[in-house]
Amino acid sequence: MKKITIAIDGHSSCGKSTMAKDLARELGYVYIDTGAMYRAVTLYAIKAGLIDGQNVDVDALRAQMDKVNVGFKFNEETGRPDTYLNGERVEDRIRTMEVSSKVSLIAAIDFVRSAMVALQQEMGKGGGVVMDGRDIGTTVFPNAELKVFVTASAEVRAQRRYDELTAKGEKCNLQEILENVQERDRIDSTRAVSPLRKADDAVVLDNSNMTIPEQKQWLMELAKSKIS
Ligand code: DC
Repeated sequence: MKKITIAIDGHSSCGKSTMAKDLARELGYVYIDTGAMYRAVTLYAIKAGLIDGQNVDVDALRAQMDKVNVGFKFNEETGRPDTYLNGERVEDRIRTMEVSSKVSLIAAIDFVRSAMVALQQEMGKGGGVVMDGRDIGTTVFPNAELKVFVTASAEVRAQRRYDELTAKGEKCNLQEILENVQERDRIDSTRAVSPLRKADDAVVLDNSNMTIPEQKQWLMELAKSKIS
């Protein structure tokens, strides 16, 4: 059976990664969460004191970029890859509100994007990958055999994120999360470098009113039709 490249792009907090991870596992493909990579760079910048409010010390980050080592290691226990920053497992720390509220700033920087895109192309060059992000079908793998663009209303996405954070015991506020979702959409879609947009040949999935098993089945059928 041929090993294809599957690009899953779309808005933040719309369940892309859950779908993409499940699909990768079912197909025996490698799953790559590119948002986690931008989040890891953001965590680096926070720890290095390079972000003050909404301002990033871009020159200092550029000078330190070769010290930012982002990668994944498969976690046998969860059956999913964990994100590492300079050898340290950061899977949980990159999902906090602190990182979420700064990541769009970092993901809009051209040299950060070119470094991450090069890494993503290297990781996925053999095919047999499910890569989720914002620009996979447009920039990273414009020739991917299957491209899906996932979306849902901002309110539904904020509620899902709220439920996820609350389940982890993090204190949060729904209105604040909704504003964060809307602000990230705005920054992601209007940035100069690789803005979030649907590739012309991507299939759209609006999952506002779908359950996770429904989405999973929809995606699995679509992928199988491309592979066989
Ligand atoms: O998917 P996520 O919410 O973990 O992504 C975090 C941020 O990174 C989000 O603001 C969009 C950005 N991102 C990006 O610009 N390009 C990607 N390929 C993946 C994520």
